[in-house]
Amino acid sequence: MATQRHDETDTVEPEGDGGGGERPLPPYPPNLGHPTLHMVRQMQDTLAFGERAHRFEDVVRTRLVGQGDIFHLGHPEHVKRVLLAEREKFRKSSDFGTAFGEGLLTVEGEEWQQQRDALQPLFTRDRVMTYADGMVEQMQRRVRRWEDGDRMDLQSEFTDMTLDVLFATILGRELDVDGDDRLRTAAEDLHEWFVPTSYLLPEWVPTPARRRFREGKATIREEADRLLDERAGDAPANPTEADDLLSLLVGLRESGMVEDTGMLTDERLRDQMVTIIFAGHDTTTTSLTFACWALANNPEVKARFQAEVDRLDGPPTADDVADLEVTDRVVTETLRLYPPVYALPRVTTEPVVMDGYRIPSPRRVVLPFRQIQRDERFFEDPDEFRPSRWDGDLRSELHNFAYAPFGGGPRICIGREFALLEAKLALATIGQQFDLYWLGENDADGEPPTAPEMTLRMEQGQEFLVTER
Ligand code: HEM
Repeated sequence: MATQRHDETDTVEPEGDGGGGERPLPPYPPNLGHPTLHMVRQMQDTLAFGERAHRFEDVVRTRLVGQGDIFHLGHPEHVKRVLLAEREKFRKSSDFGTAFGEGLLTVEGEEWQQQRDALQPLFTRDRVMTYADGMVEQMQRRVRRWEDGDRMDLQSEFTDMTLDVLFATILGRELDVDGDDRLRTAAEDLHEWFVPTSYLLPEWVPTPARRRFREGKATIREEADRLLDERAGDAPANPTEADDLLSLLVGLRESGMVEDTGMLTDERLRDQMVTIIFAGHDTTTTSLTFACWALANNPEVKARFQAEVDRLDGPPTADDVADLEVTDRVVTETLRLYPPVYALPRVTTEPVVMDGYRIPSPRRVVLPFRQIQRDERFFEDPDEFRPSRWDGDLRSELHNFAYAPFGGGPRICIGREFALLEAKLALATIGQQFDLYWLGENDADGEPPTAPEMTLRMEQGQEFLVTER
């Protein structure tokens, strides 16, 4: 979601125009060199680039050569204005629509509201709690294969695990634990649309990454078709009573409610499946990987976490979740330091003024969640992994948008409850049985090797040692 690919519909106007009166445009940060170098610098180290951009001001602009200015809004109040208070002045950038069609992540306005209303029942807290046992079953199935002394790339392991969970719960089809490789590869390849080499080049250039993306998407759509056909005739008369996404979508189609929900065609239903598979696994995968890194690198926190999961009477259940306080805070703190969606893009639909600076329209703006969540104005010792900071009243004292790993306003992540439950159950399931040691090398500043791609990920191939407890 942190993409800044050139967006053909986001036309670039000549410097200096675009409305907003005589107010100045935000400055180019003085510490990032000449704007013509911004793109290269950003490619070299995206996270450091973002950090430095906000060192002096909350509202700044940077430039992507040939693509125009991007406006960065680094205060929670800006996030609130963009996502909630003045959301009609901002739209989603069209990258996602180009990639995924007309699913919930991309559509706008009335159609978005209809799709959101249709899907929401599957994602309420109560409904999500009913997936807990199914989630743990999938996790056990995978963890059972781990052996004392294994060296593992946990990110890759969690990619498989989150797909297992997503398919078995929301999509109603259990994946083969050792197989379904074509589908697993296809789900991973959905991220290829957003790799840096792609956003530098016009859309028609056939890069290997784009080819992989197209093949991946075609495979997922084939699978979606197969699943929708398989379920045809078997859906509940009232789609709102559906147990899973597949029944819901088939039910909407068969009951004729599809037209009312904007999901008019099979094409739309497929888009919806691709969207959920894309949005619903990688984010949780990276959160789990960073949480394991954080536990392995913070022995005191790990000891408290292990003591907590050892108190459970067997595999974790929905009833245990409320008692998993340390685990909950480990997840919360991981999402603060390593938000998978580390920056959220939007495009202005009319000129706006932020901190006295004018932002023309249409222009790309970026909400840098990672920066804001590491800002010392809002968090003490912001770079420290300290789950206990959430023990007291921090949440109620914080600006509502100073911690927003799931976004905010009406378009807040629909999968939030699902992801939080899954992350806590996965950590507890693993923690009960295995101890984790980090075998990778941290950066000079003690941070894990991180790759800010489509989501914030651990660099590929980083290993952990797992030992039986
Ligand atoms: C830790 C895990 C997750 C994180 C950090 C995360 C983050 C986000 C964020 C920041 C947004 C807002 C995007 C925007 O405003 O442009 C979003 C939207 C969305 N997420 Fe998640 N997400 C996670 C897990 C999930 C899961 C598990 C699912 C589905 C099973 C999911 C499905 C979606 C969908 C469909 C949207 C679009 C919602 C809308 O526009 O109404 N996400 N997510």
